Amino acid sequence: MKTSNVGLIGLAVMGENLALNMESKGFTVSVFNRNFPGEEGVVDRFINGRAKGKNFIGTHSIDEFVNSIAKPRKIMMMVKAGSPVDELIEQLIPYLSPGDVVIDGGNSDFPDTERRVKYLESKGFYFVGSGVSGGEEGALNGPSIMPGGAVDAWPLVKDVLQGIAAKADDGAPCCQWMGKGGAGHFVKMVHNGIEYGDMQLITEAYAVLKHRKGLDNDALAGVFEKWNKGDLDSFLVEITAAILRYRDEDGTHLLDKIRDVAGQKGTGKWSAITALNENDPLTLITEAVYARLLSALADERKKASSIYAAPTANDSLITETDVEQALYAAKLISYAQGFSLMSRASAHYEWELDYGSIASIWRKGCIIRSAFLNKITEAYRKNPSLENLLFDAFFQGKIEAAMPSLRKVVAEGALSGIALPSMSAALSYFDGLRTLHSAANLIQAQRDYFGAHTYERVDSEPGKFFHTDWTGKGGKTVSGTYNV
Ligand code: 6PG
Repeated sequence: MKTSNVGLIGLAVMGENLALNMESKGFTVSVFNRNFPGEEGVVDRFINGRAKGKNFIGTHSIDEFVNSIAKPRKIMMMVKAGSPVDELIEQLIPYLSPGDVVIDGGNSDFPDTERRVKYLESKGFYFVGSGVSGGEEGALNGPSIMPGGAVDAWPLVKDVLQGIAAKADDGAPCCQWMGKGGAGHFVKMVHNGIEYGDMQLITEAYAVLKHRKGLDNDALAGVFEKWNKGDLDSFLVEITAAILRYRDEDGTHLLDKIRDVAGQKGTGKWSAITALNENDPLTLITEAVYARLLSALADERKKASSIYAAPTANDSLITETDVEQALYAAKLISYAQGFSLMSRASAHYEWELDYGSIASIWRKGCIIRSAFLNKITEAYRKNPSLENLLFDAFFQGKIEAAMPSLRKVVAEGALSGIALPSMSAALSYFDGLRTLHSAANLIQAQRDYFGAHTYERVDSEPGKFFHTDWTGKGGKTVSGTYNV
């Protein structure tokens, strides 16, 4: 019986394109799709359509699917995150052999992946949770792939995953092992959080240029096209220019007809929740999530806009270059925050994430691909234990040059009533970070005043806690000194 090199379950757009990508790299691929109502005949349509004449084995039951793959089996699932992944794992288990590898290529939440790696290990199988970024086109022509999970599975799946991944300009595949447990899906979650941040920052630049510089869509497209040839060269800036140029069938710009309510599938929100759980100030990405939530309050926005007028606009004090520089500075701060979250979580989960490697596999294939990621790769290659991207000499020079523009743009937004939540978050984070003496002494005093929560003193050693009876009416008992 003919056997395949790899199996793929889930022939929606990403799965179908990944399967075609695998086949084009010389692998024979078994495919299967569960027969949900409305999805009957998906396998046959694929086999007789885009897969015609190619090295695929179309199968119609889990049993037939698993048995058609050479051992140790590599089975990639491209199904909706959440319970469908657990259900499919349960359906696969009775047919697997020891040493088989199950790869989840969906956008799963990393704690689920941590759990699944252990669960499959307990049954003698390997589980790999792999982020895959690049959308439909990336899946077909080369995505960025972020695998993690059962460490012993990596040598078994490396050829297929690196084979189908995008290649950076230096020829390196945009797929490297991220670490044990949920590391791969965690890194993909942070990628998506950064994607939210990038999209929000571009959107804020669009708002400022449109409302303060009075640029129309074609002029705006020209600006983004120009930026795409400089430091901001990236996929998201490139598609923004294309979107601004795009005209509907009636010849007018489609963008102006799109409702201003942003959707989301959850990965940005997970990044923000994870950051809070790790005590990490991921402010910019979190504001980008909030901005989507606020956009969704369409009725309340309508009401508020009828009650509160925008401040009377003064003459604009910023140039187009200021907006470009502000976008660059805020983007850099966003990446600094994203990498900071990764290092905190890496220490917590003992993943030993390699930040140079992560930046390098984001250079091509994924949604946040950009020239900028070459520079981040260089920064971490120079110093793998860099505490914060803002401490890298190259980025220090860049941020010093760009900060005056970020300050001006945020100020102009504030004075003219244009919400710039992520640019403002970038500025506040930067100023907070470079403040030697923060004002948190007052917070500590307040906590001690009303709740005997104690404080440390600048004239004593850190870790020694004091309590003051501020009113003369309190006792000597202090609250527990635990911190979350
Ligand atoms: C990618 C994308 C992708 C994500 C979509 C939708 O890397 O290819 O991040 O994984 O699911 O962009 O995300 P939202 O619906 O949450 O905006």
